[in-house]
Amino acid sequence: MKNFTKEVLFSKDAILGRVKGLAEDIRRDYYGKDLLLIGVLNGVFMFFSDLVKYLDMPVKVDFVRLASYGSGAKSSGDVRVLKGIEMSVTGRDVLVVEDIVDTGYTVDVLIKMIKAKNANSIKVCALIDKAERRMVDVPIDYTGFAVEKGFVVGYGLDYDEQFRYFQEIYTLHETGV
Ligand code: IMP
Repeated sequence: MKNFTKEVLFSKDAILGRVKGLAEDIRRDYYGKDLLLIGVLNGVFMFFSDLVKYLDMPVKVDFVRLASYGSGAKSSGDVRVLKGIEMSVTGRDVLVVEDIVDTGYTVDVLIKMIKAKNANSIKVCALIDKAERRMVDVPIDYTGFAVEKGFVVGYGLDYDEQFRYFQEIYTLHETGV
């Protein structure tokens, strides 16, 4: 079992303040429209829930689960769909809600899936944008935080299924075996 130290990167208050800000921007842009939020499981579950609460307007929700083959914390471009879109997307305004956009492979595949179903519009909201690690160019329309480096956990985000339950976001440092 690996050992880790962690340091707070974003406090609970900082996260909720930023999520409220994102919700205000999204409400302003979509109020009165037929908005479908598609969350990318599993890491998005806390962010998605807070975002929908702060949006405080009628929206429809659906979830997808995608896995990319890779080793440990590294992603690869080979993305597999474990759970696809169930709601009708045709003619709808769709907002993809991601926890982290890292290499961009996951969002890229998802945007292509949604485009193939003839959505009226597609935008992306990410709690964390790791732009420096991007391998494929994907548009992010609403960004919570930009993170330059490091692996982050908490507020739904995991390392090997650990640390999801924290209310803060931490940077994780491996200290050895
Ligand atoms: P991408 O396809 O490389 O953009 O992968 C994005 C996915 O990788 C996110 O939805 C997360 O599940 C995972 N991920 C990337 N970086 C981190 C991190 O720092 N902490 C936890 N999960 C991460």
